[in-house]
Amino acid sequence: MPRLDARLKLVASEIRGQIHADIGSDHGHLLAALLASGRIQRGIAVENKPQPHRNSSATLERLNADIRLGDGLDVIHENEIDSLSICGMGGQSIVRILCEHPNRLPEQLVLQPNKAIDLVRQWARSNGYWLTDEKSTTGTRRFEVLVLARSTSNPDPVYQQLVDAGLDEPMGLMFGPWFLLRNDNELLQRLSEEQRYLQTKQNLTPSSRKRLDLIQRLMSSDHFLSR
Ligand SMILES: C[S@@+](CC[C@H](N)C(=O)[O-])C[C@H]1O[C@@H](n2cnc3c(N)ncnc32)[C@H](O)[C@@H]1O
Repeated sequence: MPRLDARLKLVASEIRGQIHADIGSDHGHLLAALLASGRIQRGIAVENKPQPHRNSSATLERLNADIRLGDGLDVIHENEIDSLSICGMGGQSIVRILCEHPNRLPEQLVLQPNKAIDLVRQWARSNGYWLTDEKSTTGTRRFEVLVLARSTSNPDPVYQQLVDAGLDEPMGLMFGPWFLLRNDNELLQRLSEEQRYLQTKQNLTPSSRKRLDLIQRLMSSDHFLSR
């Protein structure tokens, strides 16, 4: 049985559905571990490229899993799954996949974007999913895992919690509302390092300028100053 790295272990620990789809399954390790541990009953691996599709098929042979070749949710039916994961892709690709078939999305989404994470939070905010938790790996490379649950109709209350703490929504979308509310030493160190780095750069791109402005506002907020 393949062993999961810290990133996929964190993803696996958050999955609550019994029938789970992993979009972009590649090696198939996540579903294999979920099935072997009994955390899920049935897995659906989705790959849009032949070699990773073959890799998933080999890993998941003899397990209770379907391996499908196709683009994202194109090969998932309405009401077929309880949860899905998309890991190791950029935020833009993840949002594109989620937007293609909104009626096929399950109750729970566990997403691990490698970059442009703010786009994923923004998608959730505007598409009826609450960010119920955010976690990150420790170690040489930091990965963030977003846990989303479909809501009835109300806006995600975590952004109101941010406002109550004297922060605001743009800060939450960029750096993660749960990370900001927890306000631990790791966050402070990370933001200080990024601030120092961005301040040494001569010409900032508009997105770097935006991050620097947000960091400066965060660092001078009472939430941070009174920690
Ligand atoms: C970087 S790998 C990540 C693999 C695995 N999810 C992980 O986190 O270790 C991304 C995988 O997603 C697949 N992929 C990318 N876009 C996809 C799409 N629209 N539908 C299905 N699979 C996709 C790629 O072929 C590739 O195998």
